[in-house]
Amino acid sequence: MDTVKLVEVGPRDGLQNEKQILDAAVKVELVNRLSRAGFANVEAASFVSPKWVPQMATSSEVMAQIERRPGVLYSALTPNLKGFEAALAAKADEVVIFGAASESFSQKNINCSIDESLARFVDVAQAAKAHGLRLRGSISCTMGCPYEGKIAPSAVARVTARMRELGCDEIDIADTIGVGTARQVQEVMRAAAAEFPLAQLSGHFHDTYGQALANILAALESGVRIFHSSVAGLGGCPYAKGATGNVASEDVLYLLHGLGMQTGVDLEQVVDAGAFISQALGRPGNSRAGNALLAKRA
Ligand code: HMG
Ligand code: MG
Repeated sequence: MDTVKLVEVGPRDGLQNEKQILDAAVKVELVNRLSRAGFANVEAASFVSPKWVPQMATSSEVMAQIERRPGVLYSALTPNLKGFEAALAAKADEVVIFGAASESFSQKNINCSIDESLARFVDVAQAAKAHGLRLRGSISCTMGCPYEGKIAPSAVARVTARMRELGCDEIDIADTIGVGTARQVQEVMRAAAAEFPLAQLSGHFHDTYGQALANILAALESGVRIFHSSVAGLGGCPYAKGATGNVASEDVLYLLHGLGMQTGVDLEQVVDAGAFISQALGRPGNSRAGNALLAKRA
């Protein structure tokens, strides 16, 4: 049976844009529910400036308190060496360097140019290798930029090649503002796959324009087998105004299981996790499949 690896990014990408600061205990419970549901990779933390992203200020606490399930990778964002050191102390299994295919977004998000960011990542990459940590590279604005509009697939390919040179084990092709469409996704994936093994490329799609599921299907047709999703469709990037959450994990699971693909994740338990976090945030969840399954139970 065809297998897909899902990376659950709700506890990081999902929560980072929430104005209401949640207690670390709620985040810990969310991570635990998700790993118990079967996700083998949970993005649980982000070691960035707390002035830039206040919600992630409790990342060390969260990492210290989660239950570590055997075989599960707990990932953390690390924009620089300071972030890396915090991630190492917090026992992250994988660190994520995050750059962009757009100069303007790079400046807004991490306060430096693409070249400067890649130079900064050299230290993080070397430190990750020296400590035996997995290294993932994330590329924002691969399908479009809130400041520059269209982004050429060749720009994505260039950053992909630089991330490969840094020694990334996996590279995320991210549609930060959810503007991409199916054929475009295939073009961009083809450009990236010319620089990095397709089996180690992932699709990280936000659902702003409602295209994320179609884009996942298009990427599957192109051979991509790693996708990111967020429980209850939480999320958005604080430096991409108007961008909504990641594609909802429940919806992706419903799609993949319907295609007969194996994910190792139990949809019903993810629905429970979605209900839990939606209640903590005081609003209904954003997953169509999640809401339908909850309605069916009631
Ligand atoms: P900067 O201001 O250029 O950095 O920020 P700096 O080195 O000049 O430091 C300024 C202050 O930040 C100093 O503190 C540092 O200690 C502190 P001060 O002396 O003013 O009190 N600092 C840190 N504190 C904690 N952890 C750190 C750290 N580094 C510096 N690691 C920096 C540069 C990258 C740090 C800043 O721009 C930042 O934190 N940006 C956050 C960006 C972010 O988290 N964005 C959201 C995640 S990316 C995303 O969502 C996209 C993704 O989902 C894919 C997609 O959808 O596109 C991954
Ligand atoms: Mg994102």
